[in-house]
Amino acid sequence: MRVTVSVPGKVSLFGEHAVVYGEPALVAAIGKRLTVSVEGRSDKLIKIAAMDLQVPGVVLTYSEERPELIVEADYGKIVGAVGYVRKAIETVSERLGKKGGVNVTIRSEMPVGAGLGTSAAVAVGTVAAYTLLMGEELSLGEIARLAHQTELAVQGLASPMDTSVATYGGVLYIKPSAQQTVEKLPINCELPMVVGYSEREFRTSDLVRKVKALREAYPEIVLPTLQSIGRISERAKDALASGDLDTLGRLMNINHGLLDSLGVSSKSLNDMVYSARFAGAIGSKMTGAGGGGCMIALCPGREVEVSTAIRIVGGMPFRAAVSDQGLRVESIES
Ligand code: MEV
Repeated sequence: MRVTVSVPGKVSLFGEHAVVYGEPALVAAIGKRLTVSVEGRSDKLIKIAAMDLQVPGVVLTYSEERPELIVEADYGKIVGAVGYVRKAIETVSERLGKKGGVNVTIRSEMPVGAGLGTSAAVAVGTVAAYTLLMGEELSLGEIARLAHQTELAVQGLASPMDTSVATYGGVLYIKPSAQQTVEKLPINCELPMVVGYSEREFRTSDLVRKVKALREAYPEIVLPTLQSIGRISERAKDALASGDLDTLGRLMNINHGLLDSLGVSSKSLNDMVYSARFAGAIGSKMTGAGGGGCMIALCPGREVEVSTAIRIVGGMPFRAAVSDQGLRVESIES
C-alpha cells in the first residue's frame, strides 16, 4: 500500500518567537507544497528518501535493531528533516499502538530549513500518511497535535503555529495557552507578497534557544519586547479584517525591528527587508525563526520592483499567494 499526502508551506505574518511564550501570532499557508509518500515494507526498516529538497538528494536508512542512521550522503538540512520523520513515525506508533516498516519519500517545492515551515510540513505529512498506512484515521485536530508533539520532541521548544497552519491552511490566528486558540480568519483582501530567500545559517532550535537565553538574561527588557510583538499580532488581526494594508505594512516594519532586537535577523535578511521597502513595499519583515532564510514584503503593484531589489542584494525572490488548502490526501494505492 502506498499513501501520498501534501502539505502547504507557510509564512509567519506576525508573532514568531513571541508565540513560543504564549503570545498570539498570525500565520498564512502559501501555495507551495511539500509531499510525503509512505509505502509499507515487509521488514521493520524505516527508509527515508528526500530527493528533491532543493539541496542535493540523499538516502538514509534506519532500523530499531541498528538505530544509527545509514547515511549515503550527508547534508545538514536533509538530516534535520529526517529527524522529524523518525520522530513523527515514533509518535504515531505510540498513539496507535502499532508499527511497521516503511519507505518514506519526501519532495518539496520550497527550500527546506528556510523559515517556510518545512519541518512542520514534514511532521504533519508523515503523521497523516503513516496513520493512513497503518489503516487508521485521525481527526485534523489530532494530526496537528501529534505533529506539534513531534516538533516539540525534536526542537525542545516549539509553538503549535507551524503545525497548525500546515494542517488547516488559510490564515490562522494562534494563541497558545491552556485553552489554546486556533482561529481560521476570513481573508477579506488580497495579500500580494514577495518572499525573499537567502541561505540560512542556523536551525530553528538554535534560534529559539537564543531568544530563551536572552529572555533569561534580560527579562525586564525582553519580556515587554515579546509582549509588544503579541500586541502587534492583535492589531494586525483587526487590520486584516478591515483590509487595511497600510496598517499591516507598518506593523510588519515594527515587528521586524523587534525581531532584529532579539538577535534573530541577519545581514542578508536586513538587506532584503530594507531594499524591498526602498523598492516600494508597504511593509517587510523576516519570517520564521530567522538567522538567514526568508523575509516577506507586502507590495501590491510593486512585485516586479521588489523582486528585482531582493535579487540585487543577493536574495532569491518568489511570489507567494495565501492558500486556503491545508493537509490534502493525494492518493491511496493498494
Ligand atoms: C518558526 O517558524 C517559528 C518560531 O516561532 C518557532 C515556533 O513557533 O515553534 C520561531
